Amino acid sequence: MKESDSVPDIAFLNGKFLPIEEAYVHIEDRGYQFGDSLYEVVRSYGGVPFRASKHLDRLFRGLDFIGLESPYSKEEFLRIFDEAMKRSGLETPAFIYRQVTRGSGGPRFHVVRPGYKPAVVITVRGVEPLKESAREAGLKAITHPDWRWPKCYVKATTLLPNILIRTKADQLGCYDAVLYRDDGCITEGTVSNFFAVINGVLRTHPESDRILSGITRAAVIEAAKAKAVPIEERAIRVDEVYWASEAFFSDTYGEVIPIVEIDGKKIGEGRSGPVAMGLWRAFRETVAKETARQ
Ligand code: PDD
Repeated sequence: MKESDSVPDIAFLNGKFLPIEEAYVHIEDRGYQFGDSLYEVVRSYGGVPFRASKHLDRLFRGLDFIGLESPYSKEEFLRIFDEAMKRSGLETPAFIYRQVTRGSGGPRFHVVRPGYKPAVVITVRGVEPLKESAREAGLKAITHPDWRWPKCYVKATTLLPNILIRTKADQLGCYDAVLYRDDGCITEGTVSNFFAVINGVLRTHPESDRILSGITRAAVIEAAKAKAVPIEERAIRVDEVYWASEAFFSDTYGEVIPIVEIDGKKIGEGRSGPVAMGLWRAFRETVAKETARQ
């Protein structure tokens, strides 16, 4: 078993496993030149990826939208993940990153033409997940206009708005930014979905083109329903959020991430609240059940 901070673990490139330092894509790959590519991040627990199949469904929905035929079927991808996990030997939290780009095939030209050879890159790395002390204390966020395109359900690597906004949040000591559109509706974070408890009801943006349909989000909603937490998939307005009694992000990396301050204003008691922590525990129980080895 390796430690989660061990360096380069496993890379898979176009059908071959190889040391990460030797894995290169072409400089004229459209993923590199145009961001013409999609990605997914799956977390594994004890060497077993959580809901890998749902991540693949999302990837295939995105590939369909951009008109890119996957070089591998879902079943083949699942077999490659298994093989990658075995080769990495990582039992501690690991993240499987997978990217499918349209590939290269001639000089730079915007129009998508037939004949590109898609590139598939997969890496498995041990990454330290969110510290439990941070979850218990709660984290901070800023609000920020949502600068992204209107097709946020597609997990594209074209992430300039996300990285610029998240860097700004990070410089201000925050985990992430709560993004809102011109109509004042909060969509999600730059790397996570967003929930808040307002007037006793847990709310989050409904599934739509405006958000990524998070795998963690779905598991949190299931947990809320199972625990009879009143929940409504209805957008939160940015001017309502400061009145929330609790707020949290959800994503593959941090699972459920309580937010106790937004734009310098305290949320609720200014501590991780019972709804967020209860849902996080329920999420962990689901993970334990679904990733137990047979
Ligand atoms: N981010 N919204 C956005 C914009 C995201 O990028 C992500 C995931 C999520 C949460 O989705 P999930 O629960 O399936 O992780 C929501 C990943 C972790 C990333 O970009 O690294």
